[in-house]
Amino acid sequence: MNDWKKKGVVYEVYPQSFKDTNDDGIGDINGVIEKLDYIKNLGANIIWLTPIFKSPLVDNGYDIADYEAINPVYGTMADFDRLLQLSHEKGLKLVMDLVVNHNSDQSKWFQESKKDRDNKYSDYYIWQDPKDDGSAPSNLGSVFGGSAWEYVPERKQYYLHLFAKEQPDLNWRSKNMRQSIYKVMKFWLDKGVDGFRMDSISFISKQAEFKDVPLEDNKSYGSYYYGSSNGPKLHDYLQEMNREVMSKYDVITIGETPHTTASQAEKYIDPDRHELDMVFQFEHMHVDYGEYGRYSDVNFKLSDLRDSFARWQKDLSWNSNYLSNHDQPRMVSRFGNDTKYRKESAKMLAMITVLQKGTPFILQGDEIGMTNVSFDNINQFKDLESHNTYKFLMNKGVSSAKAFEMIQRKSRDNSRTPMQWNDKKNAGFSEGTPWIEVNENYSKVNVEDALADKKSIYHFYQKLLKLRNDSKIAIDGQFDLIAPNDSDVFAYTRTLNGKKLIVIGSFTDKKIKFDIPQGLLDNSYHEVLSNYDDLIEELSSTIYLRPYEGIVFSND
Ligand code: NOJ
Repeated sequence: MNDWKKKGVVYEVYPQSFKDTNDDGIGDINGVIEKLDYIKNLGANIIWLTPIFKSPLVDNGYDIADYEAINPVYGTMADFDRLLQLSHEKGLKLVMDLVVNHNSDQSKWFQESKKDRDNKYSDYYIWQDPKDDGSAPSNLGSVFGGSAWEYVPERKQYYLHLFAKEQPDLNWRSKNMRQSIYKVMKFWLDKGVDGFRMDSISFISKQAEFKDVPLEDNKSYGSYYYGSSNGPKLHDYLQEMNREVMSKYDVITIGETPHTTASQAEKYIDPDRHELDMVFQFEHMHVDYGEYGRYSDVNFKLSDLRDSFARWQKDLSWNSNYLSNHDQPRMVSRFGNDTKYRKESAKMLAMITVLQKGTPFILQGDEIGMTNVSFDNINQFKDLESHNTYKFLMNKGVSSAKAFEMIQRKSRDNSRTPMQWNDKKNAGFSEGTPWIEVNENYSKVNVEDALADKKSIYHFYQKLLKLRNDSKIAIDGQFDLIAPNDSDVFAYTRTLNGKKLIVIGSFTDKKIKFDIPQGLLDNSYHEVLSNYDDLIEELSSTIYLRPYEGIVFSND
């Protein structure tokens, strides 16, 4: 991987919730333009823009109706061109979301494909005949609930949708379909975009035949990833895509790869295989899963989070390091303490994530410690997954109050509420009515205050990102876990040519004693970063960590 990619720090912009400049309540491209300096000053150098293409917005833009058109709610192509140009002028790279496992049932491709079995687009989707009794071809379920098959009378066939029924899966076995995707990619790359985050890319190659799959735990449907995750021709497709498109440009590619092990992940990113630069893995996002998957009312154990991080650091040559994104609850609410120790824990979580080996990803708002939202009515949630899951939970006998609590805790909308710019109307996001309500804590948690306070989470991120990009150790150093069995502390070293960073983060609200392993720390070390004001002056192998304290020592 070349230098600019290794030095990449990615800031995720979820445009509809970032900044609204025309007061329709929906963030827009001009809003991103307005805040480019804010992103740059933070220390990020790559923007990942989630989908802004024409879309009916059933899944907030991950259902694309026209890959080469901008959704008018976000602006125009001229606005986009200006965003790209200004980003480049400021030294920021711009990465788009490429959603090509599926698109929208409103796309021309699908509208044509569903008409009959013999037209230019008829094989662009995964069509299957019904079973003899007319029912769906298999018992596969979709990510958002219910069957993964939908019947279309015109064709007398079902089409596959791993996500919502409005998101039909594309048929990668069709050469013409693949060529249409490559054309879309070139359209954006020729404009100058700097790469793609590739949505659900581990699902693009499906099994050749669809049969009923074993049902787990009395579930009504078979798991959507059965036979679809890391399928038979996946790597052939990625290599073809690389050959025909990516290899011709200097761009960064990040595959979203649910249900992928580290050894499978290495195949995607091994430079000799010419596929992708990095992948998003999900193992550490599963540490608080339970009976109802992600929505389960389960607390994570530090040991699980630490083991998972450490395993991937060891097994994968380059990671994408994140604790939240637009599909996850806010990291400070999930892994830290979003009340008394919000600032301390948000900083510590950033520290232990950003300093691992790999590319750091920051979700908009995490740099000011935005928290989960506290709605009191299910209708305040907008995400289709939250609504489907709420109904599903109640069908399973969970009380409505408990189901609501579970949604509240894990809903994707926690990360999608408007960016909190100041303590004015709608947190300075919009003068209109925001498409989703602003988190009520905006008078305390907002950018204006964070910029004014030298001790804010924002300013901590600035120092942290500078440390990460100025230090060869932070970029290339080997990762080794220390104190692997400590019940409250996640600590590790990064080592390059005998020089080290020692990174220590406490995950408890108690003051605790922590013994740095014998012989690791000597007088050549100094403290280079702390989330508390006063640095430790006397270095000793026994230190006392305050609630959620995070410290970095170095001998460099
Ligand atoms: C992953 C995206 O991040 C998520 O928001 C979306 O719902 C699914 N893929 C389907 O595109």
